[in-house]
Order: sequence, then C-alpha cells, then structure tokens
Amino acid sequence: MASLQSSFTVLATTPKNPPTSAFRKPSRVRVSCNAGDSGGGRVDRRNMLLGLGGLYGASSLVSGRRAEADPLQPPDLSTCDAEGTTTTDRNTGKVIHIDADCCPPYNGTDPESFYVPPPVDTLRRRPAAHRMTPEYLADYKLAIQMMKDLDTTDPDDPRGFAQQANIHCAYCNGPYDQRGFPTLDIQIHNSWIFFPFHRWYLYFFERICGELIGKPDFALPYWNWDHPDGMYLPTPFAESYSPLYDCNRDQTHVGDALVDLSFAPGVSVDANLNQMQQEMIVQGDSAINFMGQEYSAGSPPPGAPRGGTSEQGSHGGIHVWCGNPKNTLRENMGNFYSAARDPIFYCHHSNVDRMWTIWNALHPTAEPILDLDFLDAAFLFYDEQKNLVKVRVRDCLDNTALGYEYEFSSISPWLNYIPPQREVPANVQQLAQTAQAAAQAFPATLTDTIRVVVAKPSKGKADEVLVIEGIVTDNSLLIGFDIYVNDDENTTDGPVIAERAGGFTQVPHRSRTSETPSDLTIKLKELYNNINIADDDDIVVVTLVPRFNGDAVTIGGIKIVPRVPTVPRFNGDAVTIGGIKIVPRVPTA
Ligand code: C2O
Repeated sequence: MASLQSSFTVLATTPKNPPTSAFRKPSRVRVSCNAGDSGGGRVDRRNMLLGLGGLYGASSLVSGRRAEADPLQPPDLSTCDAEGTTTTDRNTGKVIHIDADCCPPYNGTDPESFYVPPPVDTLRRRPAAHRMTPEYLADYKLAIQMMKDLDTTDPDDPRGFAQQANIHCAYCNGPYDQRGFPTLDIQIHNSWIFFPFHRWYLYFFERICGELIGKPDFALPYWNWDHPDGMYLPTPFAESYSPLYDCNRDQTHVGDALVDLSFAPGVSVDANLNQMQQEMIVQGDSAINFMGQEYSAGSPPPGAPRGGTSEQGSHGGIHVWCGNPKNTLRENMGNFYSAARDPIFYCHHSNVDRMWTIWNALHPTAEPILDLDFLDAAFLFYDEQKNLVKVRVRDCLDNTALGYEYEFSSISPWLNYIPPQREVPANVQQLAQTAQAAAQAFPATLTDTIRVVVAKPSKGKADEVLVIEGIVTDNSLLIGFDIYVNDDENTTDGPVIAERAGGFTQVPHRSRTSETPSDLTIKLKELYNNINIADDDDIVVVTLVPRFNGDAVTIGGIKIVPRVPTVPRFNGDAVTIGGIKIVPRVPTA
C-alpha cells in the first residue's frame, strides 16, 4: 500500500470573488406538488417535441476515450444549456422537455485558483437524523426554511433551495458539456467521482445552512439507514407544513415502512444488513469496486454498472424508495434531475458520505485511487458567501480537513451479519437441464427471466468473478434486476437467500450522449461458500430476474473468470491529500 508520510501544511486563503448581483437569469423549478398529488406529477407536456426514438439506434456516435486522458474539467457555465434538460418517453419515443432550467446564475467570471477550506478549530459533528434533539431540529428546519425563502425573495441567490437543487440537475442531466468536448455531457454519477462530487456539494450546502442561521458550526444530519434503528423515513421529514416535507415522495413510505436498500424481493432488516455487508465488504473490496470505475475528460457518460457497489446499492435503493411511483419520472428522489428538490436528499447523501468514511476505516490497507484523472477532477460550486468556487477531488478526500465528522453509530449490525447458508449443494447437473447455454442465450433483452448455464474456469469454491457483459439500458427509466446462482427452488420471491448473488438498480437520469455498454462484475468466492457449491462442479446456473423495466435492458453475455485484484493506476509523483503526503510505494525486491 502507499506509505503515508505526515507533512502537514494548510494554507488558508479567502476566495477572491466578491458577491455579485449581476447574475445571468433566474431559474425555474416547476414539478409542483399539485401535479404529484393529482397522480400526474408530470413534466410540462406542452413542450413535448418529437424525438429521435429509442436510445439504442443512436449508439456509438462517440468513440471511446482518448488514449491520453485528462481529469474532468469544471463546467463552462457560459454554455450551460437548459434546453439540454430533456428525457425520452420510451413508450412514445418522444422527447420530454423537463420543465426546469437548472443552469446556475453566472456573472461571467470564473475563479482562478482552487478553493482552500478554512482552517479547522473544532470539527462540526453530523448527527444521526433519528437522534436529532429538538433544539437541533429547530435550527435545521430554520436553515432549510431560510433557503426556501430565498427562492421567492431573491431567486438569483445561489444559496436558495431551488438553486441548490438545480446544482444536482445541472451536473447529471445534460446541461453541461465537458470543456473541449461539446458532444459529451458531464455526468457525476456512475464513476469514481460520485463520492467526491457529492461530498463537496454537501459541504457547501452545510456551510450555507450555517451562514443563514448564523451558526457556522451547524452540521447536516445523516439518515442512518444502515442501522435497524434508522431504517425508516426520519419522522420530521414526514410532517406536512415542515420545510423538511416534500409531497413528491412515495407517501406510503412513512411511519414503520422499512427502507429497501437492495430492491430485492422481501424487504427486511436482514436483507438490508446483507446488502450493506455486500457493498461495504464483500463486493466493495477495493477502492475502485466500492467507489466506481474511471471517468476522465473525453469519456462518454458512464453507464450505471460502472458505479461503485455503494452507489449502485443502498444509494440507489433509497432514491427509488423515496421517489413517488405515481409521477411519470418518479420525481422527486426517484430521478436524478429532481432528486435534490427533496430535503431528504441531503440527509440521505450525508449517510452516503458517511459510508465513504467508514469504508476507508474498514479497509486501511486498500490501495487508494491516486490516478491524477481522479485527484484533479474539478467542479464549480457557490459557497456560503455567494462566491463561485472551484474545487478539486484531491482536496476533499479527508473529511476532517473539511471540518466535519459523524456522530458515532454502531455499524456492527451489518459488520457481523451472517448471510444465509445452505448445507446440501444444489444438484447443478439436474438444474442445468432447465437452462440454456450462455452462448446461445445472449445477446438478449431481459423481458423475462433468463436462466443460463455458465462454465467455471476452476472447479468448486474458487476465487472467481461473474461478469455480466455489455449491459445497455434506457437510462431514463428505473431498471432493476436480480442475479441468482444455482437457485434450484426458484425462491426468487422470498426473503434474502444464499443464492442471491446481487442486484442491479439504475436510478432514472438522462445523458445526452449514449452511455457506453458496460459490464457488471460480482465476486463469487463468498457466495460459493454460502451455497456450499460442490467441489467438482465446473458449471453454475445463473438466473437473471427482471424487477423493473426488464425490456429496457439488453445484456451482451455472461461469463465467469478468475478474479484479478483491482489495483488502481498510479501515474503521478507524490501527492498531498488533506495535508498528508502520499508517495508511491517502492516495490520490495
Ligand atoms: Cu447525485 Cu444520490 O445522487
């Protein structure tokens, strides 16, 4: 692993840009609660235009990434394209123009240097939402109310709630081109920049809250959905007339409705704990696997399978669980364009961010991602003084350098969870008679359950990986499917079972450019142990079960390969992260 060498220097500077009122234009957000309550929640269909049809026909307009990649550059706000905010109605083939101009205000001046977080005296401590004290809750509500008030008193103020929500829409739904690549849009999901982007986003949101209520040590709460005590919508968010309320949620998911982190059938505390263990430990066994695959300048927007285990798992699960299924695009939380309009978004992402800190603590010997395309990826935000600031990934890797930490909450319920086991192995030869050969079955659309025989490179409980290749999805739709190995009882509707290898969840979003086909990989070693696969088995039977919109996902193939540990590329000299200098490891002879 990289050796850590402490050489701590923090230079404090003040961002240069003075507050300005010469902003470009106000912004509108129009998916109203009335629309949602009437069962429509529709985008404004007066703006519907005839589109080009399905996404599949438009593939490979863009070739793969350049050989020499560079880090993703901050967006050019002067070219932000509100018209880019559209999505395609799969049934009609029409382009739906989402009625929200999510481009930020802009006075034409970009920051020259990178933002440096102010020196930290004491750490702000983010509390668990189910343990908020009345005094804290009052502050929190006041902060959100003051942000919402700005929406009407000064819609150009980038600290307003709608403006803050728009940040998310602009970075993930098409309005921003990548600098120098006018045909490629910026997408901050489904790759290694997912965690850093959202950390910076919450950092400024939190500082804005503190600034507005005059309490600079204010810290956002986290929705402790990984703990059985927190697996419910935190009560204050369900009270109508609260600034924390949002009517564009699934209104049946209140009270004692249990969150569903995995979107597997049979919601249960155990299924959630199993999901957490899978994404934090078993499948999330390297920085790349946990955080997401590479995404550099010049790359087309990554597809959902390129996201890390956490993003694809509990993160996506909560989005879908919160969104209103009665709304066409599952607004608010169930679609990335509208997700941040729900105050629960920031509380959810606080826990997502907490998972990153926990993962780092749980995997102290994991190789960190030191690729310069990762470390130097940059974004623009407005800070609490309305200054436009430019931030880099490398400056957010240590949450304490950003001045906050998380209130302690036991993680042992998922750390020590014991997944279901079976004693008697499945009779795979018999099972194989109910399945097709993988080579014949693909490519295929996942309209119905697909069951295939897949050859193993080694017999029995080997260290192998299942690869579901060439996944192409319609990204405007919620997509979910489950993967089972040697399931001989077709128990795919019951509670969590040993044979469930994992699942795939795609939160609907939009990319102007087609996403490249991508592979989903699932580590099999632990699963082989749990299902007690027979020592001389040289095949398995894999079952893919569509849950949501299977007809909008095609799969290129399935194979099993020996596992090769993922080691991130190191392409720079020593780097300094959060005041800590990291030097490349000198290989020992
Ligand atoms: Cu940017 Cu949870 O999404």
